[in-house]
Amino acid sequence: MYLQRRNRILRQSPSIRSLVAETILTPNDFIAPLFIDEGVNIAFEISSMPGYYRYSIDNMVKEVKDLWSMGIKSVLLFVKAPDALKDNTGKEAWNAEGLMQRSIKAIKNAVPEMYVMTDVALDPYSVYGHDGIVENGEIVNDATVAALVKMSLSHATAGADMVAPSDMMDGRIGAIREAFEKNNFTKTGIMAYSAKYASCFYGPFRDALDSAPGFGDKKTYQMDYCNRIEAIKEALMDVEEGANIVMVKPGLPYLDIVREVKNAVDVPVSVYNISGEYAMIKAAAKMGWINEDKAILETLTSFKRAGADLIATYFAKDAAKLLG
Ligand code: PBG
Repeated sequence: MYLQRRNRILRQSPSIRSLVAETILTPNDFIAPLFIDEGVNIAFEISSMPGYYRYSIDNMVKEVKDLWSMGIKSVLLFVKAPDALKDNTGKEAWNAEGLMQRSIKAIKNAVPEMYVMTDVALDPYSVYGHDGIVENGEIVNDATVAALVKMSLSHATAGADMVAPSDMMDGRIGAIREAFEKNNFTKTGIMAYSAKYASCFYGPFRDALDSAPGFGDKKTYQMDYCNRIEAIKEALMDVEEGANIVMVKPGLPYLDIVREVKNAVDVPVSVYNISGEYAMIKAAAKMGWINEDKAILETLTSFKRAGADLIATYFAKDAAKLLG
């Protein structure tokens, strides 16, 4: 057989494959999400996220040291607020002595170079489990934005490097940037969850923080998964309003969106490999149906290939070990 072009030549050995690999995954790409709770010496395994824990601050700091030693340079903080502190204003979110604020300071004391990102949304603090303030059964936009601004300022004051609004209210990125400018937080960044879809894959996360919505769903603020152009609009607007990084979330069912957003914006793009995606790999691996380590690396590499510059993933530590 005469063939002018033999493509398999470039796949013959590990050496040539590594020489022509288009996508290289490294721990520098990872953002490790952390779940934090009150208490001392607590490591509570989340039942729908086997192998993933909610930590008290002391254990969380140990985890952060571990992550840093493995080459992971960024963490994304989520806290579980005690029920007694939940209300419809979210005011615990900007308590200077709140769990989030204490966590930020503890990390900055222990590992000053770790880049600390913080979740900004009211759901952990909301009696309704919604990301915003509720009036007459509706999640109101503008009053919520005012609350998110206070929350962001409080995280910045505690020492956060970057806030990550995950709420999907209109106009919050511009409002937060403006507040940062006015208050001299000129070095504090914003990673906008720009294209965040209303997804069934958030279930295990809501178990982790006990933050499932008490009524209805999040479809009046999170995006409809039928839509693509809307994601580009959201990302472009967030960049315009001052976002330093834009995010697409969830990850795996939205690789097309990651690529489209990457092609449309001039800021780094992140993707969130979310809790349900973690749970699916864990469950299939436990059943013996897939090889967990290979599934992790293939999945994370697919995000980079799709155009993600950063990947928030519960597999950060596992993957860093595998990439060792
Ligand atoms: C809420 C928030 C959610 C996640 C991050 N921030 C869940 C939701 O919107 O209900 C999901 C993360 C995951 O599933 O891993 N602001």
